[in-house]
Amino acid sequence: MIALGVVGCGDVAFRTYLPGLSALAGRAVIAACFDPVPERATRFADAVAAQQDAACAPYTDLAPLLAHPGLDGVLNLTPAPFHAETTTAILDAGLNCFSEKPIAGSLDDARRLTALARERGLLFLCAPATMATNRFQWLKRELDNGLLGRPTLMIGQMANMGPAAWRDYKGDPAVFYTDRVGPVLDIGVYLLHAVTGLLGPATFVSAVGGIVIPERIATIPTRFGERIAVTGNDHMLLHLEWEGPTYAQILASFATPATRTPVLEIHGERGTICIPDIPTWYDLDAPVDLLLLDRGPVAHEAWRPAAPPERSPVRQPIQAGPLHFVEVLEGVAEPILTAEHATHVLEIIRAAERSAAAHGEPVALA
Ligand SMILES: NC(=O)c1ccc[n+]([C@@H]2O[C@H](COP(=O)([O-])OP(=O)(O)OC[C@H]3O[C@@H](n4cnc5c(N)ncnc54)[C@H](O)[C@@H]3O)[C@@H](O)[C@H]2O)c1
Repeated sequence: MIALGVVGCGDVAFRTYLPGLSALAGRAVIAACFDPVPERATRFADAVAAQQDAACAPYTDLAPLLAHPGLDGVLNLTPAPFHAETTTAILDAGLNCFSEKPIAGSLDDARRLTALARERGLLFLCAPATMATNRFQWLKRELDNGLLGRPTLMIGQMANMGPAAWRDYKGDPAVFYTDRVGPVLDIGVYLLHAVTGLLGPATFVSAVGGIVIPERIATIPTRFGERIAVTGNDHMLLHLEWEGPTYAQILASFATPATRTPVLEIHGERGTICIPDIPTWYDLDAPVDLLLLDRGPVAHEAWRPAAPPERSPVRQPIQAGPLHFVEVLEGVAEPILTAEHATHVLEIIRAAERSAAAHGEPVALA
């Protein structure tokens, strides 16, 4: 049985990781958790213990959590600006780590953490778990087997008004509108992992973006009416290139009231796959839309549903992360959500910010 610790008992811990525990039943338990807010640590420990066949010890300091006897690994679910220092402490304690996204705030930190994990012989995996889902493992197999011919273009968007308007959000929305988080790091990152997971490392990025709505008035119940200054770009439009050539275009926005544009379209020489909307994105067993060109004289071209052969063991994509972490720790899966991949995506994000500051000047990626 794998014993895990959780650091940061906030919105995602309760909303997503807790219900995701059922997929780990009989394989892993959360043996301990830590949050600086004592009520959250206790409430999370109680909720975990009620759901698994083992106790969960709550801590309000990091050091005793990391010294909790028998831990195999720790899930770092702190807000983005705390990821690097928290992951450093986890690895320094000799524990394997799964970090929520992003891997770190800077490339230097991402590379330092990757090297630290390697030196210590520890597993260090990072969200988002997009590429570990049944859907994206299937899409990768199908693309590699030539279902669409050579991929030529991917177009994606994750666009909403951000957490200040996400009525159900329980965390602090303000940090998301600063340049320490922003829409690319928070939601565009899912699509960046998808396109680079399917196509490999990109070679160039260019971007435009800026602050289009400089102040928000929160509509979430916990902060209703609070004014939030927007100090980081709330619209970002990225263009990416691969050898081939293959291209991708991604919109990440916290300033889009609503959209009917698909979340992701994958175009190849002979067909297109479309993930049409956010509910389909989250439902890993929902079919996606597929159209293959008909090269015969009678055109039998029509959209049809297509789905992975295997059902998802988890209810939504984020829950594929801790399950993958446990499977790699058990030795039954090879790492997919590698720190190296997360570092490449962070490199794209930082390069896109530089490009946007220079009105779209292309930046070469290492
Ligand atoms: N909320 C979501 O639905 C969601 C979805 C996907 C990914 N994530 C990621 O999960 C992470 C957490 O997001 P959230 O929405 O749960 O935030 P949150 O603010 O609701 O929760 C974070 C928790 O961490 C605690 N915390 C703060 N500083 C800490 C520190 N130094 N050490 C330990 N704990 C600390 C806070 O007290 C809080 O309880 C972020 O990286 C975010 O990108 C969140």
